[in-house]
Amino acid sequence: MERTYLMIKPDAVQRGLIGEIICRFEQKGFKLVAMKFIRLTKEMAEKHYGEHADKPFFAGLVEYITSGPVVAMAWEGKDVIAVSREMMGATNPSKAAPGTIRGTFAVDIGRNVIHGSDSPASAEKELAIYFEEADFVEWNRTV
Ligand code: CMP
Repeated sequence: MERTYLMIKPDAVQRGLIGEIICRFEQKGFKLVAMKFIRLTKEMAEKHYGEHADKPFFAGLVEYITSGPVVAMAWEGKDVIAVSREMMGATNPSKAAPGTIRGTFAVDIGRNVIHGSDSPASAEKELAIYFEEADFVEWNRTV
């Protein structure tokens, strides 16, 4: 079954949106298989966002993502990578469709509420930054 890495960012944690965001993925039918409430170190942030290291917003991005706790999660389900990105909406919240997570809760690309892996390769890389194999739970599929 496909897995993705989703992260509720510090702005959403501060605004009390954790439950609302998790609720959407639960209601959709995806399964939460690992979760940590942590504050990223600078090293973790730079590893996660390494592909943006040469971008002008990189320093601000690292500062923001390490500014408070995040909810780091692994979710599992059919086409979860693509579908969760649809549910999140465009990276720039002012372009995100109404009803999507970013379209509902954000206006600023620098405070865009949630991160989700954009491909199977990114999901594998990102999940490995935050979790080890023992962190993933097995659901009882008969319930
Ligand atoms: P995310 O989906 O986590 O992936 C890369 C992040 O970089 C993105 O969300 C934004 O938080 C951030 N980002 C992308 N473009 C910009 C920008 N122009 N200014 C500030 N932050 C940006």
